[in-house]
Amino acid sequence: MNQRVSLSGQVALVTGASRGIGLAIARRLGEMGAHISLCARSKEKLEEAAVGLRTAGIEALAFPADVTREDQISSIVRNTQQQLGPIDILVNNAGIGVFGPFHEQTVASWDAVLETNLKSVFLVSRAVAPKMIRRKTGHIINISSLAGKSTFAGGAIYCASKWGLLGLSGCMAEDLRAHGIRVSVICPGTVNTEFSPHTGKDASKMLQPEDVAHAVAALVTQAPGSFISEVQIRPAQKP
Ligand SMILES: NC(=O)c1ccc[n+]([C@@H]2O[C@H](COP(=O)([O-])OP(=O)(O)OC[C@H]3O[C@@H](n4cnc5c(N)ncnc54)[C@H](OP(=O)(O)O)[C@@H]3O)[C@@H](O)[C@H]2O)c1
Repeated sequence: MNQRVSLSGQVALVTGASRGIGLAIARRLGEMGAHISLCARSKEKLEEAAVGLRTAGIEALAFPADVTREDQISSIVRNTQQQLGPIDILVNNAGIGVFGPFHEQTVASWDAVLETNLKSVFLVSRAVAPKMIRRKTGHIINISSLAGKSTFAGGAIYCASKWGLLGLSGCMAEDLRAHGIRVSVICPGTVNTEFSPHTGKDASKMLQPEDVAHAVAALVTQAPGSFISEVQIRPAQKP
């Protein structure tokens, strides 16, 4: 990673930024000088996160929104552009998990996971891309998972969403590379957040949200002539 590159003057929109990986990414990009637009559904938690970032000297605005809702996405993109400026970096991080044998799952669970983890990336990126295309610059980083590269019992709905996200990310990268926009996808292993119980795992050996934020920082500071299309992240020791 190029430690000397500053993101001063750039604007980053991070979805799912009220806690966990999204908040760590927002903090890291803010520390590098970017102005941050934070989005998540819970207004109170999101504002708390924004206050924490502002206390650390980062310019951060909270825009509560559900990324599965097209009308709410239009509003966060419009408000971000009006209040902070054009979006240089989009991190599609918001995600949920529902786990258990596929034959015991409901259609409602399928819809919730696929809409949050996959459809939202299409919707938010589609709302942001036209201005990036006009400006001939931008980074879009999608947070998938190693569950998007493997299969396991009880993972059917989540794996389907994250495998789908890898396919979507690759196609987005091809559609946008000629316009100067770099699309990358990050596949972390299990990360120490509130996302799922970590029964039987040593949390201190697990990936931390900051490890994913570090990968995002590396992606947005790449030399202009190339782009890293996919990153897989594993802990140094098995937790
Ligand atoms: N933790 C892991 O082990 C792990 C591993 C690999 C990949 N990932 C991926 O990394 C991403 C972040 O995970 P995390 O561990 O940080 O999870 P987390 O701690 O549960 O945080 C999820 C964030 O997404 C937001 N969110 C959920 N649904 C949303 C919606 N419909 N609209 C807007 N925001 C929404 C949540 O806020 P609200 O609930 O208030 O909306 C929260 O800010 C997810 O895509 C996840 O699949 C996680």
